[in-house]
Amino acid sequence: SLAFFSPKVLANTRVLITAGPTEEPIDPVRVITNKSSGKMGYAIAKAAFEAGATVHLISGPTALAKPYGVSSEDVLTARQMHTAVMRQAKDFDIFISVAAVADWHISNYSDQKQKKQGQTGLHLEFAPNPDILAEVAALDKGPWCVGFAAETENLSEYAQAKRQRKNVPLLVGNLAQHVMSADQTTMVLFDDKGEQALPILAKTEAATALIRAISERYFAR
Ligand code: CTP
Ligand code: CA
Repeated sequence: SLAFFSPKVLANTRVLITAGPTEEPIDPVRVITNKSSGKMGYAIAKAAFEAGATVHLISGPTALAKPYGVSSEDVLTARQMHTAVMRQAKDFDIFISVAAVADWHISNYSDQKQKKQGQTGLHLEFAPNPDILAEVAALDKGPWCVGFAAETENLSEYAQAKRQRKNVPLLVGNLAQHVMSADQTTMVLFDDKGEQALPILAKTEAATALIRAISERYFAR
């Protein structure tokens, strides 16, 4: 591929990536999840590897094949993803948090299958999950962090506020209704200098453009 001839902008750089959704069990046969195909995170992992990085991918459940050259581990719940990330975050130079992490888990989980017969409804109780990106960003000598935010409205305002709240140097925003499960994406980069829109690109090309933008900012930090 073309990338073979491109400069290895991330040579000697270790990159940790989360991708896909997480899922939270209701009972042994039912889950609540987020809408995420994993395509963007997997494309970023592939682009980072092609840019010369050592890449580790922590993935929620997706239908995708793991990118060549990338080590990986699979998780289901947000709390499993949190444990996997925190165990090794300090071993990496860059953390790219692409996963659509469930904000809540079900605190009245039933370890027997819930039967619908005789029930008029189902009452679920939710408790908050840890914010993986915010925790990694708060680590002493932790990796340089990149967040994602899919919003449905007020993208600039919400994304810049989210970047500041989580204290990450770069946050990639997009409008959820335009990109979910699509093969194309529109990305807007938010950093302390403001915002910069990237053109509409296939997710594979957007991933390469994003890796370039990340490496420029990481080495200028
Ligand atoms: N994220 C995370 N752990 C969570 C929730 C989110 O690591 N428990 C990360 C996502 O991977 C993403 C960024 O934080 O990089 C923003 O996620 P998002 O869901 O947009 O932000 P929230 O803070 O959860 O806000 P909300 O869902 O209310 O918009
Ligand atoms: Ca969220």
